[in-house]
Amino acid sequence: MKIAVLAGDGIGPEIIEQALKVLDVLRKDGLALELEHAPYGGAGYDAYGDPLPEGTLKLAQEADAVLCGAVGGPQYDKLPRAQRPEQGLLRIRKALGLFANLRPALAFEELAGASSLKTELVAGLDVLIVRELTGDIYFGEPRGRRNNAEGECVAYDTMLYSESEIRRIAEVAFGLALKRGKKLTSVDKENVLETSRLWREVVKETAKRYPQVELSHMYVDNAAMQLARAPKQFDVIVTGNMFGDILSDEASMLTGSIGMLPSASLDSNNKGLYEPAHGSAPDIAGKDIANPLATILSAAMMLRYTFEMEQEAARVEAAVKRVLAQGCRTADIYEAGTRKVGTAEMGDAVVAALRA
Ligand code: IPM
Ligand code: MG
Repeated sequence: MKIAVLAGDGIGPEIIEQALKVLDVLRKDGLALELEHAPYGGAGYDAYGDPLPEGTLKLAQEADAVLCGAVGGPQYDKLPRAQRPEQGLLRIRKALGLFANLRPALAFEELAGASSLKTELVAGLDVLIVRELTGDIYFGEPRGRRNNAEGECVAYDTMLYSESEIRRIAEVAFGLALKRGKKLTSVDKENVLETSRLWREVVKETAKRYPQVELSHMYVDNAAMQLARAPKQFDVIVTGNMFGDILSDEASMLTGSIGMLPSASLDSNNKGLYEPAHGSAPDIAGKDIANPLATILSAAMMLRYTFEMEQEAARVEAAVKRVLAQGCRTADIYEAGTRKVGTAEMGDAVVAALRA
């Protein structure tokens, strides 16, 4: 099992290091994992002038799975768009055909008090956001700038979805809902957008093949409101790239910290890229205070979805739970009465819990 490790920028390298410690325990226990590192994001730009250097893409294409840290930093903000770190991420998603982005928002009991919502609203929360990842206004053409008839500059992007793009993400979402609470909410803006009208039609059509799943539709503005009002009404949410980007950040805060949220981006054969849902947090990079749990939980998702090792995945998740129960907290999830630990110490605690 070959894993391409793309640590990226900011806190990327230090959180990735913790996930690798965890994988190392499994390796010593007999898992045949082969790791190879490559520069990516700002680090790719620094080394090769490209946020997704050719060698890095090739490595990712050849690997069975890709484990990523995070990309971006203020020193790259002034670069032309093609060279910006985020382009490395968007290009690798597109090049590997990673159209299905799974972002679970799972409230660990131990952290219910860390959420900005009332404890009773989030205790036991378990929502899975399934975000389409290679279409929509992120990739639609044409895009650009031109002058209008009055000579004023106008900028435009194209929101675009094909039936097949919608159908394949709907299939993934129905399949996942079937294995969970059997409730699927499709989020769109059908009262305004053409793409959303098609989206809703195709999702309804797909639903015929999944009579066991209860399907509902919700406008994105209402979904944003319902997530903050009564998040436990949701089981699986399926939505487009742009709406999913926004709603998944919102959902992450329900769990206490975006530092807890893992993600998987899958192709049609379950090859995947795994990364925390948070960014590179340049302001705290190198300070040993970042929360590595989202990355460790991303590695667990890799074991589950790409390598189909449910037991090992559950073992890592149980170790994270145990560490939280022991009271270990990084700064982002710290509460009075718990013990504040750094990035490396949190990684070590998960390793110890795994070995126990
Ligand atoms: C995410 C991020 C990316 C996105 C950015 C960094 C391009 O916000 O993974 O959610 O918008 O998809
Ligand atoms: Mg985002």
